[in-house]
Amino acid sequence: MASPQKNYEFVPQMSEIAREAGALLMEFFQRHVKIEYKGDADLVTEADRTSEKLILERIRANWPSHEVIGEEGARIETGGDYRWYVDPLDGTTNFAHGYPVFCVSLGLAFQGKHKAAVLYDPTRDELFAAERGKGAVLNGQAISVSKTPKLAQSLVATGFPSHKRHKNPNIYFYHQITLKTHGVRRAGSAALDLAAVACGRFDGFWEFNLNAWDLAAGVLIVEEAGGKVSGFRGEELAVTDRDVVASNGLIHGDLLHEFAEIFEGRGLEPLPDPREYR
Ligand code: IPD
Ligand code: CA
Ligand code: CA
Repeated sequence: MASPQKNYEFVPQMSEIAREAGALLMEFFQRHVKIEYKGDADLVTEADRTSEKLILERIRANWPSHEVIGEEGARIETGGDYRWYVDPLDGTTNFAHGYPVFCVSLGLAFQGKHKAAVLYDPTRDELFAAERGKGAVLNGQAISVSKTPKLAQSLVATGFPSHKRHKNPNIYFYHQITLKTHGVRRAGSAALDLAAVACGRFDGFWEFNLNAWDLAAGVLIVEEAGGKVSGFRGEELAVTDRDVVASNGLIHGDLLHEFAEIFEGRGLEPLPDPREYR
């Protein structure tokens, strides 16, 4: 069978850009860059900005009519049908602390629908890519989601936002789902969490209040790897929706059921009291 990569229209050039940005991130990573703050725990570094500048230059040179939205402020509005969502460094907190879990995320939408995606993890030299209808690959090899049939046998992941932290209810979801699965990982890069669902390392992922640049690439890669992505009520996800549930498809219904129960406050195991644990 022909490699799905052969039919890709955007992925080859996107991959070059992501690899170039990833190499740049690694240079900064080895130099231990200074941490700056966008909010009380919302970090940014020179690496985020330099990576975004490079990606923006490459997109403008290759596709001058395309729109671009980047996390660090890139905005090109041309009125065109194509729009890029760029996260030049997903996992900034990890990066800034020297924890090697981060990536470059490039998502391309056409008329508001996910079209092409590349996620590059420079610490492992892993490049995930997909195009609508053409399958997903990891370093050129086709990937697919796991076959884990039951929530009780699954390993899943989530994340916590760096702003409005006190308004986020996810600790309850984290607690409940921890009790119903093999475990919940919080690795610190939503894009890589989605990539891990796509290649079967995780069986599911959820998070509240993400941005289009966190999600645009990973969502398409999961879908093209045979997985399912939706909102918390199972609704189809628009490119700009912020709350996401992704899975291998097989555990999706069970996950949504658990989330519905938690939203209703049913069957909540009380969070253990640390004073009683002393
Ligand atoms: C963050 C990471 C993290 C997620 C946060 C995101 P950033 O992106 O994806 O895993 O939990 O919600 O904001 O700030 O490192 O690009
Ligand atoms: Ca991000
Ligand atoms: Ca970022």
